[in-house]
Amino acid sequence: MEGKIEKIAVIGAGVMGSGLAQLFAQNGYQVGLHDITEGALGAALRRSRANLELQAELGWISSEEIETIMGRIHTSIDMADVASSADYVIEAVPEDLNLKKRVFKRLGELCPSHATLASNTSTFNVMEEVDEEQAERVLITHFFNPPQLIPLVEVVHGERTSRAAIETTLDLLNSVKKRPLLIGKYLPGFVVNRFQLAINGMAYALLQEGVLTPQEIDIAIESSISLRLAVNGPFATMDLGGLDVVAASARTMGVEPPPPLKELVDRGELGVKTGKGFYDYREKDQEEILRQRDYRLMLLLDSWRKGRES
Ligand SMILES: NC(=O)c1ccc[n+]([C@@H]2O[C@H](COP(=O)([O-])OP(=O)(O)OC[C@H]3O[C@@H](n4cnc5c(N)ncnc54)[C@H](O)[C@@H]3O)[C@@H](O)[C@H]2O)c1
Repeated sequence: MEGKIEKIAVIGAGVMGSGLAQLFAQNGYQVGLHDITEGALGAALRRSRANLELQAELGWISSEEIETIMGRIHTSIDMADVASSADYVIEAVPEDLNLKKRVFKRLGELCPSHATLASNTSTFNVMEEVDEEQAERVLITHFFNPPQLIPLVEVVHGERTSRAAIETTLDLLNSVKKRPLLIGKYLPGFVVNRFQLAINGMAYALLQEGVLTPQEIDIAIESSISLRLAVNGPFATMDLGGLDVVAASARTMGVEPPPPLKELVDRGELGVKTGKGFYDYREKDQEEILRQRDYRLMLLLDSWRKGRES
């Protein structure tokens, strides 16, 4: 789209829509929030306010800012009220393909022609479901719950999505301090939910084998890899641990190391300790890499401990 985005319409004011409205309002945008009942809109506003109050309690914002932010969210049970002047639209109605198709059709009729139309769908390839005349401005912005807090947004586009719609989306997400991840190809579940599926699959397996209770599994994950992975992704983490160790540990569990890992180990590229692994560390000081990892982890642990004491 040409020009500046000022007004954002959020369609559906449930778990995700309420957080999205808050996110954009908090970053200075005028937000039109639409749902089919006044009750849903009222509940969404209460949820946003409660989250802002918590932010004020933590010193992220001042209490005075709450009214200003809430004042930027306008609600309506008439979609036309919020869509007709929107520069950017995010659809967050329930995960029902026919419903989403109906909503996109209506948005096509109501929105200005310059508006980009994004869906927060978790699964559907909405780009394939819209009419030809809509297709260039339609894509997916997959936020994570709670969307006002979690930084990543998966941006998935179709073959017919215009470069302008993609660029507008990336700029918008950067402007609200998100970390957009552009995924050029539709995959069911996109990317992150596939990791979640793998973790959940192992959690079920351990539960069914009677090894641990759900509470024990939660303790194991919350207090270990979730913290480490918050600081470094899986490849950087493997590099830090040593790829020979990672490969040996996989074999012990009956898993042959996959080719990318095996090739590095065969070449003696074992991660930070040899200067090369999945990343190249040859220009970096090994002690400094460890110091940075520990520093980020300690900052995280500070708030993790505080959070658990509250
Ligand atoms: N909940 C999550 O963790 C999560 C995470 C990522 C993506 N998503 C996706 O976001 C979307 C919304 O999920 P949610 O969890 O917020 O759902 P939700 O059920 O909490 O909220 C959906 C809202 O849409 C409203 N609605 C229903 N029909 C409508 C219509 N025709 N027009 C306008 N509003 C309508 C409902 O009244 C409800 O308030 C889904 O596509 C879901 O898959 C959800």
